[in-house]
Amino acid sequence: MCRPAIYRSGFKCKKCNKTYSSKNIYLDLTVTAGSKDYNEFRPARTELFRSPLVSFLYERGWRQNFNRSGFPGPDEEFQMAREYFKPAEGGVLVDVSCGSGLFSRKFAKSGAYAKVIALDFSENMLRQCYDFIKNDETILNSNLALVRADVSRLPFSSGSIDCVHAGAALHCWPSPSNAVAEINRILRSGGVFVGTTFLRPSTPALFRSLGRGSQNYNNLTAEEIEDLCTSCGLLNYTSKIQQSFIMFSAQKP
Ligand SMILES: C[S@@+](CC[C@H](N)C(=O)[O-])C[C@H]1O[C@@H](n2cnc3c(N)ncnc32)[C@H](O)[C@@H]1O
Repeated sequence: MCRPAIYRSGFKCKKCNKTYSSKNIYLDLTVTAGSKDYNEFRPARTELFRSPLVSFLYERGWRQNFNRSGFPGPDEEFQMAREYFKPAEGGVLVDVSCGSGLFSRKFAKSGAYAKVIALDFSENMLRQCYDFIKNDETILNSNLALVRADVSRLPFSSGSIDCVHAGAALHCWPSPSNAVAEINRILRSGGVFVGTTFLRPSTPALFRSLGRGSQNYNNLTAEEIEDLCTSCGLLNYTSKIQQSFIMFSAQKP
């Protein structure tokens, strides 16, 4: 993949004839890329992170707050994820909902993956990601590409990806089931999915129909996450839980 050429030119999909634009910093592979008048708004939990302010603050205090809910912190979360990815090391890793690239940069720097794709729906998160990369000589020449896409429509062919990472993201997705089904589709056989998110405490079955109220985020219970992964076709589900933090992993059969 010749990244500078792709970024300069954009390209046209030979199968569906759609033209995709390049934004210099990242490749825009959303369906609405290039549309002039048509716009689409996502749920607040997606739109929030498109804001320049939230994107700027994300690695400057916002993410650190997650520790209060039991998140071990980026260094430890990265090491935990790497352990799960061991069977698929050396392949292509997609960091979906990468935000400002906190983990994409660590994966790229590790040198353990052939390519790392930092993917997010937020243009401003990707700009922040680019700024961090630009100022870090140790990753400037690593095989890291920035892509804008919706997790519910991942721009990769089926069975082409070895590892998918989704840090602190599932609770922000408009449809976790569409997202996990897409992740399952793009993973190759034996490929590994690792995610973290905020848990909702389990409630007795009787009260479940009352729903999740008007929460801004779509926090799932530990049981729902396992059910989601296995019903989308993933196998070997495992998880580690600490307060509201969960890291889970599953594998493509
Ligand atoms: C809380 S941040 C997580 C960032 C980073 N992965 C981490 O571990 O800190 C959640 C990210 O999910 C992204 N996101 C929300 N909806 C999305 C969607 N539909 N497709 C792709 N990314 C989405 C947001 O833009 C945001 O960057």
